[in-house]
Amino acid sequence: MRAEGIIRRKRDGEELTTEEISFFINGVVSGQVPDYQASAFLMAAYLKGMTHAETVALTRAMLESGETLDLSGLSGPRLDKHSTGGVGDKISIVLAPLMAAMGMKVPMIAGRGLCHTGGTLDKLESIPGLRTTLSDAEFRSCMLDVGFCMMGQSERLVPADRKLYALRDVTATVESIPLIAASIMSKKLAEGIEGLILDVKCGSGAFMRNIDDARKLARTLVDIGASMNVQTVALITDMDQPLGRTVGNAIEIKECLSALRGKGPDDLMELTYTLAAWALNLGDAVEEERLPMPMKDFTRRSYKHEVMEFIEKGDAFRKFVEFIDAQGGDPDVAFRPTGLPSASEVHQLKATDEGFIKRLDARAVGDAAMLLGAGRCRMEDSIDHGAGIMLLKKRGDQIAAGEPLATFYTNDPSKLKEAEDIFRSGIELSDRDVARSPLVLETLLEKT
Ligand code: URA
Repeated sequence: MRAEGIIRRKRDGEELTTEEISFFINGVVSGQVPDYQASAFLMAAYLKGMTHAETVALTRAMLESGETLDLSGLSGPRLDKHSTGGVGDKISIVLAPLMAAMGMKVPMIAGRGLCHTGGTLDKLESIPGLRTTLSDAEFRSCMLDVGFCMMGQSERLVPADRKLYALRDVTATVESIPLIAASIMSKKLAEGIEGLILDVKCGSGAFMRNIDDARKLARTLVDIGASMNVQTVALITDMDQPLGRTVGNAIEIKECLSALRGKGPDDLMELTYTLAAWALNLGDAVEEERLPMPMKDFTRRSYKHEVMEFIEKGDAFRKFVEFIDAQGGDPDVAFRPTGLPSASEVHQLKATDEGFIKRLDARAVGDAAMLLGAGRCRMEDSIDHGAGIMLLKKRGDQIAAGEPLATFYTNDPSKLKEAEDIFRSGIELSDRDVARSPLVLETLLEKT
């Protein structure tokens, strides 16, 4: 077998065999396939697409390029949740402790923010002392004692993804559904989980801008899960406006602390409860070795009712405090969020006109927050954990001229003007009432 022949077959739109894909990926990781051949392969896959069998073979080869997490000896269903990324998307930080409080084991490998999207690890690192790089022993004790962890990917997990993603980034081959799906699923499957809830974001602040692409990605992810014996459900959710009322790092942690006490903004609470209800449904399915049930209104309500008790009794909040302690952070911050990083400049943005907010563009808000210091343009850039945006009005809200629209926090006042211009470019008012659009657009289950 030769790498060149495999590239040629993919270039000509032929279907590759499992053996060819495995040979190629092993070569990429060992260095026998040089970067120029790997790049040519990626471009051929980008242009010609991949069949389901090829995508599964790619996922498996990437997964097998490294180790998987050791979860032996843990009781309770092993589940995780993954979001394809958005603006103000802090759900993982609320959901993981909630799932652990409900008896699930959640070995969450999370990512960092890039451009307008935020990252769970960056948000968590605004908690003084908290570490997101754990040794094997620390990971195990976190899982045994707390029931969940949130950490970065180690060098040993899915090395093929590290290599391929770096190449995709510089060869204009990121936006390919099979390549994205194999990249996401290989990392999730390396966690050794039995069930996965996917939050596929759709809208201006997401990877997938429209429902057709979001649906294709969600279907591909769920089908890979099914082929790899991991119960998978995908929810396509709105990312045309930011989730919750905060965008940044420390500021989002504060909002998570409120949510863990049941006092977060409505959209954040609703999506947390919905995803947690799916986690319960999936957990039951894993334990009973059957597929998860589609949730009709009654089932959803009864699962949600069960979930809400874990928030109301304070169990999820206590789990989060235990987690901070276990990962080296200062647990006192959960009770006194004033210990989180802050910003020297606080600037209020006022509405220039009156009306109903018709558009609060997630991309524009994310770009403005990045400029204030909350995000990074390139992976090697540093971020300012105290910077961010508090949204005082959201889509559908009425606003009067001169009323505050948002508060900007930054330690770099020279960026305020440009950030304000970007933010304002994402606002559109209507003189008529604006209907509230649904948060969950579609739900996809394994095909039976
Ligand atoms: N997230 C990933 O992990 N991989 C991709 O390719 C895109 C988003």
